[in-house]
Amino acid sequence: MCGIIGFAGKTEAVPILLDGLERLEYRGYDSAGVATISADGRLQVKKSKGRLSVLRELLDSQNPLSGNIGIGHTRWATHGEPNDTNAHPHVGQERKIAVVHNGIIENYLEIKNSLIRKGVVFSSDTDTEVIVQLLEYYYRKKSDLMDAVYAVLNRIKGAYAMGILCSDFPGQMVAAKKDAPLLIGYGKNKNYIASDVTALLAQTKTVSYMEDGETAVITADGVQIFDRDRFLLEKEKHLIEWDVSAAEKGGYAHFMLKEIMEQPEAVRKTISPRLADGEIVMEELNNASELMKNISRIYIVACGSAYHVGMTGKYALERLLHIPVEACLASEFRYSEPLLGESALVIVISQSGETLDSMAALREAKRKGSKVLSIVNVMGSSIAREADYVLYTWAGPEIAVATTKAYTTQMTLLLMLGVYLAKQLNGIEQEEYAVIIRELQDLPEKISVVMNDPDRYQKAASRYFNHNSVFYIGRNLDYALGLEGSLKLKEISYIHSESYAAGELKHGTISLIEPGTLVVALATYEPLVEKSLSNIVEVKSRGAEVIAMTTERIVSLIESQASEVFVIPKVHSLLQPVLGVIPLQLFAYYVALNRGCDIDKPRNLAKSVTVE
Ligand code: M6R
Repeated sequence: MCGIIGFAGKTEAVPILLDGLERLEYRGYDSAGVATISADGRLQVKKSKGRLSVLRELLDSQNPLSGNIGIGHTRWATHGEPNDTNAHPHVGQERKIAVVHNGIIENYLEIKNSLIRKGVVFSSDTDTEVIVQLLEYYYRKKSDLMDAVYAVLNRIKGAYAMGILCSDFPGQMVAAKKDAPLLIGYGKNKNYIASDVTALLAQTKTVSYMEDGETAVITADGVQIFDRDRFLLEKEKHLIEWDVSAAEKGGYAHFMLKEIMEQPEAVRKTISPRLADGEIVMEELNNASELMKNISRIYIVACGSAYHVGMTGKYALERLLHIPVEACLASEFRYSEPLLGESALVIVISQSGETLDSMAALREAKRKGSKVLSIVNVMGSSIAREADYVLYTWAGPEIAVATTKAYTTQMTLLLMLGVYLAKQLNGIEQEEYAVIIRELQDLPEKISVVMNDPDRYQKAASRYFNHNSVFYIGRNLDYALGLEGSLKLKEISYIHSESYAAGELKHGTISLIEPGTLVVALATYEPLVEKSLSNIVEVKSRGAEVIAMTTERIVSLIESQASEVFVIPKVHSLLQPVLGVIPLQLFAYYVALNRGCDIDKPRNLAKSVTVE
């Protein structure tokens, strides 16, 4: 949540900051701001409530901020409502120091009260302001900026990635990190900080990832990174493989639509490096029998859509590996008492690799002696770095807040992992294995087939976009799929929607079905199709309007019961949800479009959730 960009160079900072903020806006879009130090050493700040476009207009309509060094921020409000004052950067009362910050300072009230007693006057409701006021306070006392920075870091508790400017040091920017992502970007006579690699794609592809406890001093001519004891570090530099065009709309109306359409390619890129000579290869795991040695249960831990992937994985991995598999919400996992230890394997799934709850679950699992395998999209992200094993989904940058291509690649990779482990542990018949390999190869093509009939989804969307409440029902893998379909619809269209295991409906929820209620009935899991059909009939006989999704092989059984039918190709049952999610994504997209919603940036949300 929230995005940070910082630049130190020999050219004007503001255009680079604004470009970076535009690429970061998906991380938070309540307010935005920039600060620079001008050639004559003045600290200047402009910030405003609302989207980045509001800040741009402000900068255009007033004197533009000059200076070759600057920091910028796009905010997702935690402490204090979104308004001009609470927007970052925050400035100390002496107007010497400016700070942008991601994360939460947990002991901010105690620090704020003690500074108020010392006569400091606060102007915002944010936790961040204590950082800058405390910095100015220590700087006044110690007269050394880095001494003051370390004094602040020793005093604050919580999570932070921060960029700092001080008008006494007009050529330098300071950065610090703990429990929130921050990276350094390197250029010629220019260097950067950013909370997210996408902010830098147009500027540089060479980066270093800051670790917790590290600080950095960045100038146009160089970067120095220090550990928590202030020793200078030699940091490894990494080359980013993503292309800048992958993070641009490329002619599509929305990032979400572009990302839906990119799924065949994203899935192909995720599958093909892991298929060779008719076998699944997972070099990243070294030795699967070593990984699974003494493992008697698996936890799949994630949030939101990644958790829904975990639900699919629960059904699939239990079937393939014959051990208990539990899908857990990361935010609950860390506060329940999971049976961790050496006999538990924990699989953490995350697109961003920075979701705080998932990260905390990972740390808890490691602390208790479990091996952690992560499935992550963003290379070099915290979850990827801290897990014992990492499998990357090659989805490329995902910008729309509603995940699509990350979800399908996560699911494909998790299923491949299950099949791979089953094969290594002799848990799958050769014949079934061969079918799955063949169908994995054909999967990208089949996704294209499902997508290539947008009229069907558009038609259904224009028929139902005015409904206020929608139920998704399904059994087994279709139930897991319904969770995702329902989340997609509600997060971007703001229609109330719930997903139910179809057999559970009559234990309470069916009382909500009345004439005209829309039910999206998923019947792609063939072993249970008759039972799903009975559930469709039950809701229909209470007046529900039904959109059914099923496979081409059994459509004749279902179609007479539904007002609309989405038909997808039949593949191996474990791979079926990868195809099944596509109509649900497109239906949600077109419903939101019909309702005039802000599809890529739905209200109250942010792409990457780095607070608890
Ligand atoms: O980056 P992560 O995969 O860890 O994010 C997890 C969830 O926040 C994410 O899937 C969220 O639910 C999406 N907005 C859903 O579209």
